[in-house]
Amino acid sequence: MEIQSDKYSIYIGSEVLQEFNHILEDFQGQYSKVFIFCDENSSQHCLPYLIEQVPMLIGAELIEIESGEQNKTLSICNDVWKTMSESNADRNAVIVNLGGGVICDMGGMIASLYKRGIRFFHIPTTLLSQVDASVGGKLAVDLDGHKNQIGLFRNPDLVLIVPEFLKTLPQRHWISGLAEVYKHALISDAEYWSFLVGMDLKNEEYLSSLLHKSISIKNNIVLQDWEEKGLRKTLNFGHTIGHAIESQALEKGRDLLHGEAVAIGMIVETILSQMSNGFAEEEFQTIKSTLEGVFPLQAIDEAELPDLIEWMRNDKKNDDSQINFTLLKKIGEAEFNKICSVEQIEEAIRTYNTCIN
Ligand SMILES: NC(=O)c1ccc[n+]([C@@H]2O[C@H](COP(=O)([O-])OP(=O)(O)OC[C@H]3O[C@@H](n4cnc5c(N)ncnc54)[C@H](O)[C@@H]3O)[C@@H](O)[C@H]2O)c1
Ligand SMILES: [Zn+2]
Repeated sequence: MEIQSDKYSIYIGSEVLQEFNHILEDFQGQYSKVFIFCDENSSQHCLPYLIEQVPMLIGAELIEIESGEQNKTLSICNDVWKTMSESNADRNAVIVNLGGGVICDMGGMIASLYKRGIRFFHIPTTLLSQVDASVGGKLAVDLDGHKNQIGLFRNPDLVLIVPEFLKTLPQRHWISGLAEVYKHALISDAEYWSFLVGMDLKNEEYLSSLLHKSISIKNNIVLQDWEEKGLRKTLNFGHTIGHAIESQALEKGRDLLHGEAVAIGMIVETILSQMSNGFAEEEFQTIKSTLEGVFPLQAIDEAELPDLIEWMRNDKKNDDSQINFTLLKKIGEAEFNKICSVEQIEEAIRTYNTCIN
């Protein structure tokens, strides 16, 4: 399956790696050197299969970093740039990003800034990066715990979605990726939401339609508003609260994944949607019980509310230190640029704490 994005293609399926080998054969001579950027897990679980399917990559230089959000930093980028420079990588070098959202976000940024920009391909290997992080051209690293504070927009030359790579993904990371999948449905497609609610999570037969649907939703939104002037902001549903919780966890050294934070964020922001956007109670209950059945929802320590508000104020989604949200009107329909007061946010978080089981 092919999804056409802005001047690049997203290929989905088991055969796309063989196709990639042909592409590299065709473009041989146009690139001087290939780097494969990965972490220890994608190196162990995905690299051998990649090389087996894409013999043109034999001889590529491997750059492996330690996994984890705490390593999504400028300082690691710096190390990689030095390695590339020492290897005499010129402007015709290319980077293949093989890994999850951390590798794709950071590898894309490394490529985009090296000698003012070299080509890069994304081969995302987590559910989250396949349905979300690899599409849309957002590239970034964190700064002092502030999520994605330093970054840029630049599209890859190609995105290859290989479902086989998900076979080794730990269950917890699989669940984390589902947060973005539910988000896609909640902001834009009630029918897709019903499909997801009725889905047996253990049944892999759903996987390819889920990948295709979610990637199409994300791609359609970014095609209309690449620079996030309007519509693309709907993809931030769950993320104003979610990023604050994630930043706080990162600072305190707590073990919390992006999707786990976003799941909490989506429930709190649905409560805000009820409080200020006319969202129906019945639909809230459906969202809450569905997410509760999938994600390990934790209560938010009320002593940390001032810190969380501070993270939200500093979020790049805001102007004039007002806190900006994407809220739901109903399932499948979102509205962006919704300002909520600190009192409303605190009340929504308290309501969340009392309503989760
Ligand atoms: N650019 C965007 O538009 C965008 C969108 C959503 C999320 N993100 C970013 O993505 C990141 C989260 O992505 P993620 O959840 O993929 O995190 P991740 O990259 O940390 O990957 C999760 C874990 O899975 C391991 N892993 C990767 N592939 C594997 C495989 N096939 N088998 C076994 N283990 C594997 C990784 O080593 C890591 O330990 C966050 O930094 C978030 O900000 C970016
Ligand atoms: Zn996200």
